[in-house]
Amino acid sequence: MPDLFTPLPLGPITLKNRVLMAPLTRCRAQPDASPGDLAPLYYSQRAGAGLIISEATCIAPEAHGYPTTPGIYTPAHVTAWRRVTDAVHAADGRIFCQLWHVGRYSHPDFQPGGALPVAPSAINPGGTCRTPSGPKPRVTPRALDTHEIPEIIDQYRHAAACALDSGFDGVELHGANGYLPEQFLRDGTNTRTDRYGGSLLNRSRFMLEAAEAIISIWGNHRVGVRLSPAGAHGEADDSNPLATYSHIVKELSRLGVVYQHIMEPWGDDDLKDLTAAVFRPLVNGALITNANFNYEKATAYVRDGLADAVAFGKAYISNPDLAERFQRFGKDAPITPWDTSTFYTTGERGYTDYPALPPDAPPR
Ligand SMILES: Cc1cc2nc3c(=O)[nH]c(=O)nc-3n(C[C@H](O)[C@H](O)[C@H](O)COP(=O)(O)O)c2cc1C
Repeated sequence: MPDLFTPLPLGPITLKNRVLMAPLTRCRAQPDASPGDLAPLYYSQRAGAGLIISEATCIAPEAHGYPTTPGIYTPAHVTAWRRVTDAVHAADGRIFCQLWHVGRYSHPDFQPGGALPVAPSAINPGGTCRTPSGPKPRVTPRALDTHEIPEIIDQYRHAAACALDSGFDGVELHGANGYLPEQFLRDGTNTRTDRYGGSLLNRSRFMLEAAEAIISIWGNHRVGVRLSPAGAHGEADDSNPLATYSHIVKELSRLGVVYQHIMEPWGDDDLKDLTAAVFRPLVNGALITNANFNYEKATAYVRDGLADAVAFGKAYISNPDLAERFQRFGKDAPITPWDTSTFYTTGERGYTDYPALPPDAPPR
């Protein structure tokens, strides 16, 4: 029976353990959207993870929707990300790049020329957007014309090629958390009547075309996809998430993606039954799960075959050597609490200054 330290074959690579680092936006990129100077150190400190999934990284200028988030679409981005991947590889780590387009969660303040953000349909998500000049009410996005959609698919292809040039080990399509691919997928955010809307087949088309574009660069054995069937933003509603996600998971299996990263429900609402285990029989690659795991729960999931690996988010912010702590101390591993006030600030505080456990540290 596998445990968290049984190596996991993932396409042509083998992960040294099943304790993965979840994608974590840290808002510390440079003004040109290159990853910041501390990013190589930050990621290499966490190279003990079986796989690092990078912070969400924008595929084009229009894809941005949060302050100082990185991109992967210019030569400067490639040069800067190369420093990150080199540092991770020098520390014997593996790193995938999470490819991101926020769609309607953007704001004119992030858009070239102050344009409206784009989305499948002109439906305002509500709430506020954290713009560089403070919180502002979200806007109603502009619905994409059918003929514009291939351009965005091309942006995914271009970003995937930049990720390849940057030395990543693979890429993860961000299909979760209410962003653009999920906005197309869910019938609460997609009311289109063209071939990208209406039936489940049509609503799935955007995500699958994006996945295929990325696969055309990397091959399916280096491409994963993240999904959040139970939703992370309540507004991105779907009338039948079980049917929707059963379909997309099957279709992604048909494309042969190397893993599906299926998040567990976060809250205790009526979607709490949409666990990763529900979709397990439909996944033909590896299944990574995430959200609110600790050592015991992760071990049980891997042992019982409910998932092949578990990604840890917040715990990886404050415990750069999380996998090593689990390996040394199991359930008694001391876990440093994370400071939410430095999740999205600047500089090293709360970023690169969480220490690894000293060799003589006692268990919890
Ligand atoms: C500071 C922060 C940034 C995050 N950024 C991303 C991101 O860029 N992409 C993504 O898919 N999820 C993102 N998430 C969600 C995490 O990957 C993860 O799903 C969540 O933290 C739950 O896992 P945990 O309980 O292990 O922290 C973020 C979460 C936090 C706390």
